[in-house]
Amino acid sequence: MSTVFETYRRAPDLGTPPSESTKEITLTIDGVDVTVPEGTTVLRAAALAGINIPKLCATDNLTPFGSCRLCLVEIAGAKGLPASCTTEARQGMKVTTQNKKVADVRRNVMELYISDHPLDCLTCPTNGDCELQDMAGAVGLRDVRYGYAGENHLDAPKDKSNPYFTFDPSKCIVCSRCVRACEEVQGTFALTIQGRGFESKVSPSQNQPFLDSECVSCGACVQACPTATLTENTIIDAGKPEHFVVTTCAYCGVGCSFRAEMKGQEVVRMMPNKDGQANHGHSCVKGRFAFGYATHKDRITKPMIRETIHEPWREVSWDEAFSYTANKIRSIQAKYGKGAVGGITSSRCTNEETYLVQKLVRAAFGNNNVDTCARVCHSPTGYGLKTTLGESAGTQAFDSVMKSDVIILIGANPTDAHPVFASQMKRRLREGAKLIVIDPREIDLVRSAHVEATYHLPLRPGTNVAVLNALAHVIVTEGLEKKDYIAERCDPEGYKAWREFAVDPRNSPENVAEETGVDPEMIRGAARLYASAGNGAIYYGLGVTEHSQGSTTVIGIANLAMCTGNVGREGVGVNPLRGQNNVQGSCDMGSFPHELPGYRHVSNAAVRGQFEKEWGVPILAEPGMRIPNMFDAAVSGQFKALYVQGEDVAQSDPDTHHVTNALSSLECMIVQDLFLNETAKFATVFLPGSSFLEKNGTFTNAERRISPVRKVMEPLAGLEDWEVTQELSNALGYPMKYKHPSEIMDEIARLTPTFEGVTYEKIDRLGSIQWPCNEQAENGTPTMHIGEFVRGKGMFKPTPYVPTDEVTTRMYPLLLTTGRILSQYNVGAQTRRTENEKWHDEDVLEIHPHDAEQRGIEHGDWVGLKSRAGETVLRAVISERMQPGVVYTTFHHPFSGANVVTTDNSDWATNCPEYKVTAVQAFKVTGMSDWQKKFTEFNDEQLEFLKKARTPAAVS
Ligand code: SF4
Ligand code: SF4
Ligand code: SF4
Ligand code: FES
Repeated sequence: MSTVFETYRRAPDLGTPPSESTKEITLTIDGVDVTVPEGTTVLRAAALAGINIPKLCATDNLTPFGSCRLCLVEIAGAKGLPASCTTEARQGMKVTTQNKKVADVRRNVMELYISDHPLDCLTCPTNGDCELQDMAGAVGLRDVRYGYAGENHLDAPKDKSNPYFTFDPSKCIVCSRCVRACEEVQGTFALTIQGRGFESKVSPSQNQPFLDSECVSCGACVQACPTATLTENTIIDAGKPEHFVVTTCAYCGVGCSFRAEMKGQEVVRMMPNKDGQANHGHSCVKGRFAFGYATHKDRITKPMIRETIHEPWREVSWDEAFSYTANKIRSIQAKYGKGAVGGITSSRCTNEETYLVQKLVRAAFGNNNVDTCARVCHSPTGYGLKTTLGESAGTQAFDSVMKSDVIILIGANPTDAHPVFASQMKRRLREGAKLIVIDPREIDLVRSAHVEATYHLPLRPGTNVAVLNALAHVIVTEGLEKKDYIAERCDPEGYKAWREFAVDPRNSPENVAEETGVDPEMIRGAARLYASAGNGAIYYGLGVTEHSQGSTTVIGIANLAMCTGNVGREGVGVNPLRGQNNVQGSCDMGSFPHELPGYRHVSNAAVRGQFEKEWGVPILAEPGMRIPNMFDAAVSGQFKALYVQGEDVAQSDPDTHHVTNALSSLECMIVQDLFLNETAKFATVFLPGSSFLEKNGTFTNAERRISPVRKVMEPLAGLEDWEVTQELSNALGYPMKYKHPSEIMDEIARLTPTFEGVTYEKIDRLGSIQWPCNEQAENGTPTMHIGEFVRGKGMFKPTPYVPTDEVTTRMYPLLLTTGRILSQYNVGAQTRRTENEKWHDEDVLEIHPHDAEQRGIEHGDWVGLKSRAGETVLRAVISERMQPGVVYTTFHHPFSGANVVTTDNSDWATNCPEYKVTAVQAFKVTGMSDWQKKFTEFNDEQLEFLKKARTPAAVS
């Protein structure tokens, strides 16, 4: 896979969406026989044959509308001149696309448009990249007989409220493409056409500015607009792109494919790739617009070192940084033992980078002390799915949802965290699929435009397992299991034990009602709906995994899917929605202390042998330390050096006091990152990282899809992240000699059975590959467990509900649960350095009106939030989305300190922290918490140290 810059051109547009029919028909267009699937429009059939009929209101991702009348054609035997975009091609049809009659009508139509359109093409930002301009040329417009003096819209004021795009209604032709894109592609329904005839105009929500409307800034309308009415501000500033490279979004686990459209070394637009297999040409506000962080002035582009965190940084050469770091690590190992050092890989980095960090730890550090940020998000997914189904990954492709009849969404909020998949899910729900939401909070999907959940089970945080057991109880006691499927596909002993457990009246909806707070009839209804669905699919997120029973919940989900026969075909399955872009990949690449790449235990001598042969060093058979163990050992003085690539544990990990104590206890803390993030403020070595635009590699999304990350600009600090790890390894005396990340992928493929057939050449050819990709599945595996589970027979496991220790008391009477918001991403280090701040510039505390009133808290008040672990202060937002007794916040801003409050409780099997349940008290305050005061002081000191060290910024 190499970066090949292609000259900029608009993506081809076949005019109307494809037909799904398998039956073919043949028609004649301009004397040419054209064979197409039944249901194809004449416009598309012509485009497929290379005959371009002029068009304006039609585009191939929207249902045809037939308003502009530019695509008229003559059809033998038909009256008048039908619009080819709304006319279905028929067997034997004879179509003429060009003759004097159609040409005259088209020219007339165009004349009318242009008579109310500014004639400023030469100074228009989309000059040379405008469909209206192209069509004026295509129809041969030479004159506008109606003149420009009549009533017109040429003075209509611009709406510049959105930070990323401008709405200039003077250029609008009222083709409705934007309105339809907002409805059909995005599913937000924020736009309408107001008024009739000459008065018609595009209106966001109730004729509001875009920024104040329901618009979520996905950009689908901008992409759909055939004129310069809706235009990206970067294009207004820089003009048309010159070239582009296809790459993958570096934000969430949807893994959208984009064309990075460039002018020289500058990205001027991120355009969702129509051929992208995860996103089909759609995106959200983050991927499309929030890329400015990559060249933000805060980027650190020189390596820096210092002896302690209480002294200024010193900028050094890469060579000095590597030898200083290697000497530190080796002297710490000499003094405290091999196991006193470790590394943390990042789900924001590529597969190749992650693989290299775990290799560095195992081969150069000589221990298994490597862990990943997936520890704190989806580690229970790995454990739960491996135990039951035999593979630690989701079972489906995203497109599978289009075949689902009933969808259970548990502990996930896709419209905020996985927006492009949420749009796809909403499309399926509008087509008639039913939705069951299991969530303490009324997330958007419970009720939004044209979508309403059939059931919302608003459970108390921490009671997922009890609700899943109650669903299972209804299914088995009402005889709704798929007995044939279970008999054929599942382990009989496991099933017997689980069934006995599930039928126990202790698991009945009525019995768990008090504990869960959910109406038993709702549970019964939801169980019947899911079990009787033709295709029932379960999607889940961190609201499942980040609990003391996270692994049990994942097992409970797999049990439900197996007992209803809902694994092993399209439209069904168990689907973890991964938070960060490469959570799946970082887990696949052996980032866990007990597993080598491909989820194989380090105690397996045969597997170890393969790696030892390839790497030329012995590998320890004992698992290393998990992140929490590393922190504990640092505090107690046995763990002394940590290498963190691309993660910000000081902000993202629970119990901030403990984490920062641990980081301050280290003798050598090495951070490789773009910015001086919260963790880097505790570092003694800073190695500048490279953004996704500056390197080659691959990301693996939530559907196991390995997608290309291509370098579109040179790394600002001179090295790609994998090169930094390689040079560090070389300085440590363990040689790494890769010339390109493709060689790292070749090694991964040699050593990992599920990646056996993966090569960069194949990724280039296919666009992306869903693993397993091997001899049995040469081009990858969209749906897993077809015919047989990976482990052979599906394994049911009883899932007794064990209430969390984190219980409410008189001192801590509320439960805090945490989540994400659309405009921000994880710790916010990237999105806070973009205009996305306009939507969310601080984390707030959502609190139910009753709880607020009891405490005298009003909307906007500062509220102290106190748990057993710590205390912080946030601004209150009174919201009925919360149930009484439950409060909610996000963790995108360091100063808000959400994790000062979360505790070190964790999942019994994987240590995944229990972020979703913390007993707290909330009370009105007037100033910062003690922690916030100390944070501010420390932060100011660290920023001053950085300022002193920095030479004039290399970036603008
Ligand atoms: S940006 Fe997206 S949500 Fe906003 S109006 Fe356009 S299509 Fe709708
Ligand atoms: S804003 Fe663009 S897409 Fe929307 S109606 Fe006007 S010209 Fe058409
Ligand atoms: S949905 Fe996720 S992957 Fe897609 S553009 Fe948004 S952040 Fe990027
Ligand atoms: S493109 Fe067919 S009517 Fe507009």
